[in-house]
Parts: sequence; C-alpha cells; structure tokens
Amino acid sequence: MSLFQPFQIRDIQFKNRIGVSPMCQYSSTDGFADDWHLVHLGSRAVGGAALVIMEATAVTPEGRISPHDMGIWQDAHIEPLARITRFILSHGAVPGIQIAHAGRKASNAAPWLGDGALTTEQGGWSPLLGPSAIAFDENSPVPQAMTDADIEALKQAFAGAAHRALKAGFQVLELHAAHGYLLHSFLSPLSNQRTDAYGGSFDNRIRLLLEITEQARQIWPDTLPLFVRISATDWVEGGWDVPQSVRLCAELKKRGVDLVDVSSGGAVADAKIKVGPGYQVPFAEQIRHQADIPTAAVGFITDAAQADEIIRQGQADMVLLGRESLRNPYWPLHAAHALGVTPQWPNQYDRAKPRLPQPQSR
Ligand code: FNR
Repeated sequence: MSLFQPFQIRDIQFKNRIGVSPMCQYSSTDGFADDWHLVHLGSRAVGGAALVIMEATAVTPEGRISPHDMGIWQDAHIEPLARITRFILSHGAVPGIQIAHAGRKASNAAPWLGDGALTTEQGGWSPLLGPSAIAFDENSPVPQAMTDADIEALKQAFAGAAHRALKAGFQVLELHAAHGYLLHSFLSPLSNQRTDAYGGSFDNRIRLLLEITEQARQIWPDTLPLFVRISATDWVEGGWDVPQSVRLCAELKKRGVDLVDVSSGGAVADAKIKVGPGYQVPFAEQIRHQADIPTAAVGFITDAAQADEIIRQGQADMVLLGRESLRNPYWPLHAAHALGVTPQWPNQYDRAKPRLPQPQSR
C-alpha cells in the first residue's frame, strides 16, 4: 500500500489515503455553516484530499466548545452544510463530519479571543455537563454530573445529529471521543468517578461510547463508513492508556466502526505530552494490529515521504493532516508531484501545474 493508492470502506472509495483532520474554525453564528466554511473546506477538496472532515460539530448548543462552533442540533443547519458537501463531492473528495459534545470543556472563548472559560455575562453558558463534578482545571467551572435523564437526552442529541448529517450529504460520520470532550471524559478515570453503570470498571466507562456507537451504526447506512476519534492515551499515570484503547477499539469494531482516528491527550491540563514528528503514529499502529481495525494517523504529519512511509509500513490506513493542511490546502497535489504520482490538478489550474522534472516513479 502507498499514499496514493485508493482505499475502500463499504461503498465509499477514497481516491488516496489523505484526509483533512477536523478543525474548529470558530466562525459560525448560532451553529450555522457559512461562506467561510464553504471556501475553507472546498479549497481542501480542490487541493486533492480524499476525505475532508468538517470540524467538531455540536449536537446541542451547550455542547459547543465556544459560542462560534459549528452545530447540527436543528434542521435549519442542514442546507448550509449540504451546500458544502455538494461542492466537496463535485471535486472528487468524500465529505465527512465529526459530531461532538464538549462536556466540561464547553463554553470557552475562541482561541484568538483569549481561550478560557466564558461566564454567562461574557456569552458563555452553565451548567456544563460531565460524568462527574470534577473541573478540567482550576480555571474551569465544575460541571454537573450527568443524570440518567441527561444521558438519555445526550443519546437523542447524537441520534438527531446523525440523521441530519446524512440529510446534509455527508458520507463519513465520525464520533468525537477524544481530547477530553464529553465522550472521552466518560472513558478516562481521571474525569469519570461515577459509581453507577457508566463509571468505575473499564466496561462501565466505555458503556456510553458503545451505546452511542451502536445507535449511530443503526442510523448511518450500511453503505457508509463510521469513524470514531479517540485519544489513545491521556499521557498521565492512572489515566486512559493505549492498552485500554486497544480493548475499546476491538469493541468498536464489533459494533460496526470502520476506522479509528487515533489522536491523544486533552483529558487534563497538566499532561506531559512528548510531541514530535508523527508522535501519535505508534498508537495508530498498535491499535491497527492489536485490535485488528483500520486506523488513521494524525499529528505532525507534514511531509510527503513521511506520510507515504506510514502507509507503506502498515502503521495506518489513512493519514489526516491538520495544521499542514491549513498552511497548504494543495498539499496532496504537491505530495503527488513529490512522490512521482500524476496529480489531478483541477482543469481551471492546469496551466499552473509544476512542470519541473519528476523524481523517479515508485
Ligand atoms: C484542531 N483539532 C481538532 N480535533 C478534533 O478532533 N476536532 C476539532 O474540531 C479540532 N479542531 C482543531 C482546530 C485547529 C485550528 C487545530 C490546529 C486543531 C486537532 C486536529 O484535528 C489534529 O488532530 C491536530 O492538529 C494534530 O494534527 P496536526 O495539526 O499536527 O496535523
């Protein structure tokens, strides 16, 4: 396998192994997609990625990280999203969406407005929801431990979001169970200290994610891929870790998840994360082999040869690019040139194609 070999999941063919990682744009009003999102995601489809994943899209207004997050909690959100999926599809890319609830990390300012928890006077909201009444850090509010009724309402919200995502034309549904947001916070013993069926043992901590996954798999057609993004480790002693991720992913596979998108961190503020090129790739590799499920690798993947090697070595089935894709929407087209593969520049840009001598084909 190599970076530019197609990849099939169910009825969907990805033309290569490159995806655009979900990235919040903090540019929505009342959760609506607008021209920014069309141009931003559309450029990356034109740029040659096989998969373009919409940012964390909130299943309820309270589940937004910031007041400017994308949302999918009402039917009125569907049509502006559908405009984007139509454009992505028309450029040969697969439109995906990550559906999310921020849990105890909700109600924050956008990064360029200073991050940090917002009070209600500043446009934030309360109470925040979490598995237990434990704050993310000393600057964050203490969330309310979710009741059975809250858990039921959350499942309904994820179900509603999945139905709307399908109506909007998305072909990949990704559940956001990473980065310390609500579903991850149930997995991690650092944030989940419940004593009911949703806390304590490993089986209890993964229960909510498995229930939401089963429900999503029933809604999402058999022809279309279902992904889950996890944080493979909390990077903290006594937290969620890679062996637990492997066990979780084996359970996700049994429930019809097609690919695990393997990130890490975000559960607590004081984790010591060893960041470097491809630093999360070994987690994707371990999960791929030990849970026997396709994975996507993400995190500091910036170079064509590096990405190609991840696929060739069987460390992951896809690579997702975050910041490098922001820097260069045409990264996949340039990567094709660099690897000696014929890139599919759009007709409109044909005369701008780099025409330097090609390296030897491989
Ligand atoms: C992110 N990331 C992220 N992750 C996620 O699961 N959902 C999201 O909505 C976001 N939002 C987001 C916004 C911005 C501006 C950045 C830079 C990142 C994390 C992202 O998807 C990716 O996992 C990391 O950025 C690591 O990959 P790179 O950037 O090293 O390629």
